[in-house]
Order: sequence, then C-alpha cells, then structure tokens
Amino acid sequence: MKILVTGGAGFIGSNFVYYLLQNSEDDVVCVDALTYAGNLKTLDNALNHPRFKFYKADITDKATMEKIFADEKFDVVVNFAAESHVDRSIVNPTIFLTTNIIGTQILMDLSLKFNVKRYHQVSTDEVYGDLPLERKDLFFTENTPLHTSSPYSSSKAGADLLVQAYYRTYGLPMTISRCSNNYGPYHFPEKLIPLMIKNALENKKLPVYGKGENVRDWLHVSDHCKAIDLIIRKGRIGEVYNVGGHNERSNIEVVKAILKHLGKSEDLITYVEDRKGHDLRYAIDPTKIQSELGWKHTFQFEDGLKQTIEWYLDNQEWVESVTSGEYQHYYEQRYGK
Ligand code: NAD
Ligand code: TYD
Repeated sequence: MKILVTGGAGFIGSNFVYYLLQNSEDDVVCVDALTYAGNLKTLDNALNHPRFKFYKADITDKATMEKIFADEKFDVVVNFAAESHVDRSIVNPTIFLTTNIIGTQILMDLSLKFNVKRYHQVSTDEVYGDLPLERKDLFFTENTPLHTSSPYSSSKAGADLLVQAYYRTYGLPMTISRCSNNYGPYHFPEKLIPLMIKNALENKKLPVYGKGENVRDWLHVSDHCKAIDLIIRKGRIGEVYNVGGHNERSNIEVVKAILKHLGKSEDLITYVEDRKGHDLRYAIDPTKIQSELGWKHTFQFEDGLKQTIEWYLDNQEWVESVTSGEYQHYYEQRYGK
C-alpha cells in the first residue's frame, strides 16, 4: 500500500512514519507544511529510507495537494496535520479553523476524487469536553456527545462532524480515532511534559496552571501509533474508535514525577494563572478498540515517562534546534522572559 501521512514532521505523525517503516512493507509519503511545530530534523532517520518520500506542502493549498494526489495515487490517507496547541488557539483561533477544518475538507475531497480506499482522521478526546474531577466513574465513550471548550477542540470537533458528513453524503470510506494525551519522543516542548523536562534541565521555573489539579489520561505515542495502524487495516469503515490506556494523572503529579526522575527540587514549581476555559479531566473508555480490534496499551505511565525523559536527555540537540526562532518569541510572550 501507499500511505499518505500528513503532519508527519510533527510529534505523533513522525512517530507514525517510523512505526510504518519499521513494522510494515508500505510506502510512506509525508506531506507537512513545516510550521513552527514541524521540523525536518524530526524525520532525519526516515529521509533516506527507500520507502519514504517527503513533500513540503500545506494541506489547505488545494492545487498543490491535488498534484501530489494525482502523482502518488494513495491507497490510504492518515491526517495528522493540525494546529494542536490549546493555548495558541486561545490567542489566535483563525489558523486552527483554516488548517483543522478546511485542510480536512480538502484532503477528503481529494480522497474521493482519487479513489482513496481509506481516509483516517486523527482526532482527540478533547472533542468530548471534560469530565468532573470528583466523578472518577465517568469516562468518554464513542457515544459521549461532542461538547468542546477551546477553539482547538472546537476545530477538531468541526472536522470530525465534516468527516462523518462525507461518509454519509458521499460514501467516503473513513474512520476516526479519538485519543487521549500522548507523550514520548519528538514531543514539541510547548506541551506539558516536554516543556517541564526542558525547563527542569535548564533550572528554569515550571509553570503549572491553576492548582495543577486538572487530570489528563496519558498514553505513550507508540501505543497510539499501534492503534491507528490497526484501525486503518482492520477498523470498520464509518466508525469512531476511542484510544486510551487508563493512565490518569493530575498535572502536579506529572510535574513532580519529572522533577523526581531528574533529581531536581520541587522549588522549581511555580503556580501561574489558569488557562481560560481549562478542561478539568479527560478519561477514555477504550473498550471498543480493545474488544473489536484487540488493541492493548503496552506502556505503563511511569516506565514510559522514564523512557521519555531519557530520550530528551539524549536528544538535547533536537530540542535546541526545534525551539529556536518563532518558538522563542511565543515563549516570551506567553510566560514572560
Ligand atoms: P504537532 O503540532 O506536533 O504536529 C502537527 C504537524 O502538522 C506539524 O508537523 C506541522 O508542521 C503540521 N502542519 C500544521 N499545519 C499544517 C498544514 N496546514 N499543512 C501541512 N502540515 C501542517 O501535533 P501532534 O501532537 O503530533 O498532533 C497530531 C494530530 O494528533 C493532531 O491532529 C492532533 O489534534 C491529534 N492528537 C494529538 C494528541 C496529543 O496529545 N498531542 C492527542 C490526540 C490527538
Ligand atoms: P497540554 O500539554 O497543552 O495538553 P492539553 O491542553 O491538550 O491537554 O497541557 C496538558 C495539561 O497541562 C493541561 O491541563 C494544561 C497544563 N499545562 C500547565 O499546567 N502548564 C503549562 O505550561 C502547559 C503547557 C500546560
């Protein structure tokens, strides 16, 4: 098969590219606009692979995308490309709507035109909104109503609805996965875990929003890649699959675990103003993907976190190179010098 991976120079997309090159015989084509969040350095170990090809292109540029679809004749499209950071969406929603919704529409139109056999939309559990902190018995299922909080999650939910409409109206052979928070190698250091690792290593303050009580359900990125791979091969067309491994932790627990692993003092923690509209708790019920497709997560959070911290220690050059330029400007605006 020939698989298009959009957003493959970002965190999860790059892990998926490596996953496919290592675990399949498929040809892999990556399209990425190389925004601040995408970096070719992330694909260093794929660029010379005989089954890999890279295009720098924007998924919202229909003419360029059409030429790529016509030339490559994809069997499968997996759409990771997105603006993905909630805090940035609060400051500037427009680009989120453009990339996440219009970009999805363009990819689906081209998938229909060029008879793609499977269009897979990589979505997020954030489309379900949040759960109360005190109701540990509640989880997101595929039937939980969409109820979003941020411009980011709204744009992802908008895209999901459009994907479902394309299935019903035009018969697009689609699947959707909604995964919980990922962590692991190549995670851009504006998100909680890599930012805290980076700051702790530099003995900078660790900015925790509010009281640090918000809960996220963490999944190692390789478990997410395995789930998407299963869905595109065995998942039922027209279906949504939730992906998560029951690894709920409060933010402050995560931050303290990172400091402990690195042997750094908790004095580095600083509580800062809360995020606007901050979702309280995410928690996935993965029963459907487990029972239908036999998916299981492999990483326990503590082991995965340790491995991730070690990866960042071994790859500080990568961190340096992806956080220069535009990111510096963002960081200073967001957290002050
Ligand atoms: P990321 O921000 O690390 O990567 C996004 C990639 O998309 C970057 O390489 C960027 O250059 C590229 N991109 C952005 N706009 C583009 C455009 N217009 N055209 C082409 N490429 C463009 O994001 P991520 O964390 O890897 O997330 C990937 C996908 O997974 C997103 O759709 C996100 O909503 C979803 N997701 C993320 C998580 C998570 O915890 N990170 C969890 C569930 C779902
Ligand atoms: P993030 O990694 O941005 O993912 P998401 O908002 O998509 O879940 O944030 C994870 C949690 O960490 C979220 O509750 C916000 C919190 N957070 C902080 O406390 N401080 C920070 O500097 C960042 C980036 C996030």
